[in-house]
Amino acid sequence: MASTSRPSADAAPADVLRVGVVGLGYAGTTHLTSFAAIPGVEVIALAGKEAPRLALLGAEHSIPHLFADWQQLVALPELDIVSIATPNALHHPIAVAALAAGKHVFCEKPLALHTTEAEEMVQAAKDNDRVLEVAFNHRRRADVQFARRYLDEVGIGRIYHSRASWKRRAGIPGLFSWFTNKTMAGGGALIDLGPHVLDSLLFLLGEPRVVAVSAVTHGELGRAGHGAMDRQEQMMSDSGAFEVEDLASALFRLDDGSSVAFEISWAGHTVDDEDISIELLGVDAGLRLFVPRYASDDTLRLYRDVAGAPVTIIPEVHVPGGEHPLVIAEFVNAVRGGDWAAHRGDFALHRTAVLDACYRSAAEGREVRLDS
Ligand SMILES: NC(=O)c1ccc[n+]([C@@H]2O[C@H](COP(=O)([O-])OP(=O)(O)OC[C@H]3O[C@@H](n4cnc5c(N)ncnc54)[C@H](O)[C@@H]3O)[C@@H](O)[C@H]2O)c1
Repeated sequence: MASTSRPSADAAPADVLRVGVVGLGYAGTTHLTSFAAIPGVEVIALAGKEAPRLALLGAEHSIPHLFADWQQLVALPELDIVSIATPNALHHPIAVAALAAGKHVFCEKPLALHTTEAEEMVQAAKDNDRVLEVAFNHRRRADVQFARRYLDEVGIGRIYHSRASWKRRAGIPGLFSWFTNKTMAGGGALIDLGPHVLDSLLFLLGEPRVVAVSAVTHGELGRAGHGAMDRQEQMMSDSGAFEVEDLASALFRLDDGSSVAFEISWAGHTVDDEDISIELLGVDAGLRLFVPRYASDDTLRLYRDVAGAPVTIIPEVHVPGGEHPLVIAEFVNAVRGGDWAAHRGDFALHRTAVLDACYRSAAEGREVRLDS
């Protein structure tokens, strides 16, 4: 376990914030550049296993402390913030150790593999009076934010059913890497892409609670060696170690009486190709967010009857991108703002509980309730 020394943030939270980033992949690099771009924030430590990349990033960003293991980084007394961008299974141990050492924690999605671990992380944030925030960057897309504002200002009547999905034709990340290893990832498509879709959906719906789920999972394509995002990697690999699902489908019951059809897939022999979709069916109107291949324009449709005729409204909303920097800037503001009690990771905990319940439902072949 890491050192338990308290960081300088205790004394002067408005001063320079010193950040340590764990992870050198896409997520870690994005964390590094996002934190480094904020005035008054310094990335002073970096950890990761890929020695050449560690040295390169360290030199590029003049980072004085470079480590192979996260434990050494968390033990650094002068750190105020630990930013976690590692394989999913490490989110829990790193966050709990960092919070216990008095650091604020910014963690990649999913918060944790299981509900109990997520609960321990939230409890550690409370016990140590620190911020725990999760990288729900998709919710910060301009089209999702516009949809939320439209629901607030205009509304679509009572929403009785929603459909939410992220589907890929061939999008298994790192086939036979940690992404498809049950111990390191916790699951497949559902735990990888599901947090973003679920987060955006619950945000749009005004944070109802999911009270029951009935789910199925399939891993046919990955097991057969199909569906890798990187086809070169697919051809080279022969380990056959695909231990997770590439498709999950579920029905959710919500505490407001509405329902959700939820489907996430990394791969499928079909037309879907990196398509994210959220449809809200209201009594008075409907709203559809459809983002094919991370599109930045023309992603929203509003449906209502006007003068007795069906009308489709196409809002002109451009998504400029850069949602990770936005969510990291919000996190830094929360740390500086001092209202830490509002940022203990509770939203993320519910999302982990829902996905965890989906895995249990699929394994046991029955509906699983979250409210009992
Ligand atoms: N929010 C998003 O849009 C988004 C996008 C991509 C990935 N992610 C999440 O970010 C996390 C990382 O994903 P990635 O694609 O960057 O993975 P990756 O495999 O590219 O990088 C993982 C990093 O963790 C490091 N690591 C592993 N064990 C370590 C240890 N013991 N000590 C220190 N470092 C260690 C590795 O060396 C590597 O640099 C995952 O949880 C993933 O779900 C989120």
